Amino acid sequence: MSHTAWKVLPFVALVTLASACGDDAKPVNAAEYGELLFRDARFSESQFNDFSCATCHATTPTPLNGRMDSGYTLYNVASRPHWWGGYETNLLDAVNFCYVSFMRGVQKLPEDSPQSRALYEYLVSISPDAQAPALPYTVVKDIQEVPRGSLERGQVVYQAACQECHGALHTGEGRLTEMASILPEVTHDYDELFPGIPHSLVVIEKVRHGQFFHIGGNMPAYSLESLSDADMGALLTYLGL
Ligand code: HEC
Ligand code: HEC
Repeated sequence: MSHTAWKVLPFVALVTLASACGDDAKPVNAAEYGELLFRDARFSESQFNDFSCATCHATTPTPLNGRMDSGYTLYNVASRPHWWGGYETNLLDAVNFCYVSFMRGVQKLPEDSPQSRALYEYLVSISPDAQAPALPYTVVKDIQEVPRGSLERGQVVYQAACQECHGALHTGEGRLTEMASILPEVTHDYDELFPGIPHSLVVIEKVRHGQFFHIGGNMPAYSLESLSDADMGALLTYLGL
């Protein structure tokens, strides 16, 4: 089904939700309900998910506070002609890739549920420009060593890209989920797990592909656009690798 098919389905009922304080029920319109879903990890029913859409996507024209996400800002997303570097030509499919792979949604969001329609209305509400260009998405295929950068830059990159999920270096303090490993201590097992491969290369593989050599994990992958090789090199210096 096309992007248009998802769009034309009307959002019928006003959804009534309990307000944040829990006392009185507060009616919200479709886009508002969609934003609540967007910011709520419980949007995925999986008990193994701690991510919301907002964990990986800003919604402002430029991400605030220098945050460096794996995913693009979704400002104007509904106006883009295609997604995931042209790999997805249907907006709901582009969303479902994230929903299933990263949020462990067991089933794809259907086109016609109130939740899907509300999410769509929200994405449209943050897409004010009728035309927006598709954004490039370059996957680093072959994992190679990168020149190391400065410690100072590495710290900035860690805080902007990794810390929200992984917490503080060495302790994991403040991490989003217990499932996110403590960095760089987790690499201590790599000689056993990945014999003969330099630890830095295993970390580059993980960050670039979100998985180890195509197996396992729900960490998102970082394209070249979301993390340059120069910033990867600085990050490795900060991780002591
Ligand atoms: C764990 C991180 C993560 C989560 C959670 C996540 N995404 Fe994504 N998303 C990505 C990455 C990485 C990409 C690929 C880069 C890109 O295109 O933005 C992406 C791509 C997309 C795209 C395509 C953007 C484009 O122009 O190419 C859409 C749309 C999208 N996500 C919507 C969502 C929605 C809606 C949710 C919640 C249901 C969600 N994502 C949850 C990481 C995530
Ligand atoms: C959206 C949350 C999120 C972000 C952002 C994130 N990670 Fe992860 N990361 C995870 C989770 C969850 C795991 C454990 C599950 C898995 O392996 O995918 C993980 C696992 C890892 C591992 C593998 C640990 C092992 O099992 O050996 C490494 C290495 C890693 N992350 C490095 C990074 C680096 C470096 C960054 C920043 C560029 C980063 N991560 C950003 C969530 C995240």
